[in-house]
Amino acid sequence: MKGIVLAGGSGTRLYPLTHAVSKHVLPVYNKPMIYYPLSVLMLGGIREILVISTPSHIELFRALLGDGSRLGLSIEYAEQPRANGIAEAFIIGSSYIGNDPVALVLGDNIFHGPGLSALLHDQVKNVDGCVLFGYAVRDPERYGVGETGEQGRLISLEEKPSAPRSNLAITGLYLYDNDVVDIARNVRPSPRGELEITDVNRVYLQQGRARLVDLGRGFAWLDAGTHDALLQAGQYVQVLEERQGVRIACLEEIAFRMGFIDAAACYERGRQLQNSEYGTYLMAIAHADR
Ligand code: DAU
Repeated sequence: MKGIVLAGGSGTRLYPLTHAVSKHVLPVYNKPMIYYPLSVLMLGGIREILVISTPSHIELFRALLGDGSRLGLSIEYAEQPRANGIAEAFIIGSSYIGNDPVALVLGDNIFHGPGLSALLHDQVKNVDGCVLFGYAVRDPERYGVGETGEQGRLISLEEKPSAPRSNLAITGLYLYDNDVVDIARNVRPSPRGELEITDVNRVYLQQGRARLVDLGRGFAWLDAGTHDALLQAGQYVQVLEERQGVRIACLEEIAFRMGFIDAAACYERGRQLQNSEYGTYLMAIAHADR
């Protein structure tokens, strides 16, 4: 399965923070924001990844992540000139996707919780149609919203409804079979002028091929799209890391634990960064496993 991290958009809600830089490189506590969604794809075992961003920001990501080999990944880059909507990712990425299924994660979404890796591995294996991940929130009108019927079956999807039919937000992680490319090509812009991911998902829903996985209460799903949300996400990461002594979305650690790189490579990366706590952490985990 190929992976896409969508990290474009105008970021206007975070002005002036995002006047000169991409929102997706802003710090969420001690790491750039994009580390978090990228870590989700890695935990799902996905190693071929396309990062999509604006022409003015794409070089930032290339500088940050390179070709991915340091993490045992292959990372490529593509530009989205205008924020024409999330579903445009599949049109921009069509040749990269080829005939494969694809996972899309939004660059400002943070997922953390027990069993995430196992859950993703399970879902990634056989995607027939699409798999969406739902999360109960207090303010569903800010998101795509799913309504479920008996046995948790998905029966409706709406984008930012003023009167939501449920409190189940559709999170920014989506798994699709290869039909998604054609489906995205046939979606028309919404009244706000975007190719809506919810319209793509609704096609699968109408075909009876949309699955919804409820992440449940034990999980944390945060988006970092507003100043408050950004600060809260940073505080969340700080509290857990400080308390547990482990790191959330430490890409080299995930690469090491997933077997994408070996202990020596993890240690060497830590040594290069040894002036930072991040570096000493990497050396310690590589050493402990030797
Ligand atoms: O966060 C989950 C929500 O993301 C879903 O519940 C909604 O169904 C989905 O439409 C989306 O909601 P937003 O309208 O809040 O998305 P936003 O415009 O904030 O963009 C989300 C991320 O995608 C952000 O990191 C920027 C990036 N993006 C967005 C658009 C529209 C792009 O890279 N290109 C785009 O054209």
